[in-house]
Amino acid sequence: MRMLWPNPLDDVTDDDLERLYGFPEDLDRPWVQVNFVSSADGAATLDDVSAGLSNPADKRIYLMGRDLADVVLVGAGTARAEGYRGARTNPERQARRRRLGLSELPPIAVVSGSARLDPGSSLFTDTAVPPIVITTASAPEDRRAALAEAGADVLVAGDEMIDPRAALEQLDARGLCRINCEGGPHLFGELIAEDLVDQLCLTVAPMLAGAGAGRITEGRTGEARRLDVASILFEDGFTMFRYRKRA
Ligand SMILES: NC(=O)c1ccc[n+]([C@@H]2O[C@H](COP(=O)([O-])OP(=O)(O)OC[C@H]3O[C@@H](n4cnc5c(N)ncnc54)[C@H](OP(=O)(O)O)[C@@H]3O)[C@@H](O)[C@H]2O)c1
Repeated sequence: MRMLWPNPLDDVTDDDLERLYGFPEDLDRPWVQVNFVSSADGAATLDDVSAGLSNPADKRIYLMGRDLADVVLVGAGTARAEGYRGARTNPERQARRRRLGLSELPPIAVVSGSARLDPGSSLFTDTAVPPIVITTASAPEDRRAALAEAGADVLVAGDEMIDPRAALEQLDARGLCRINCEGGPHLFGELIAEDLVDQLCLTVAPMLAGAGAGRITEGRTGEARRLDVASILFEDGFTMFRYRKRA
């Protein structure tokens, strides 16, 4: 993997990635990094999932995003479509988290207004740490109870809809302020509308997906926001952009 910008570099190591993608130090508020891959013509999926757009370089960035975070935030649509399960690790990645003073593994926090999640799914059954479900007061009581019974920490952050800011505050109150959001498009739209995105890590795949698939942002509209380019990496035709919210 090469760095094209800001400092051209031929062989980007994991230490370089850790330095580039590390969350700011001494955070006193939740800080949100969002990770996406898109085709060159702006599609967020191929055959309804993102896997066909990815490559090993994108996966490296994706896993580094998880490794540097306190929590992985994801919308229920993505968790359902992609069959989410608990985060995995290996000795090298474990050592990095220990060195950085992070927990052994980041929990997956799923945003679901309806709490329509299957307590028998891999999100609850195939995880080393309890998942978090962020839902609403209007989600049926029995569904919330079933998810808690399945081991989830169930948080309520809104009445009819989830208030994204309240959701982040609840994570922060649990000591989870380094937030790595893995989408999907509707959750990203909510975060953009509330101006809660601090960094976007976007891989552009050298592919034309054609019409049909959605964009990486859907749902709520909001005002356009200017970003700064923080770094550009490149491997095998895939370009990994890191954009920061303009201060
Ligand atoms: N290209 C990529 O990098 C990438 C990344 C992620 C996902 N994807 C793709 O995107 C697709 C899923 O897209 P999506 O937009 O449906 O997924 P999403 O954003 O992950 O999930 C949407 C769901 O999240 C919940 N939600 C989000 N904001 C909410 C709020 N403010 N209040 C209440 N509930 C809220 C709702 O869940 P409930 O319905 O449970 O109430 C909603 O239906 C999949 O095909 C996936 O493969 C692509």
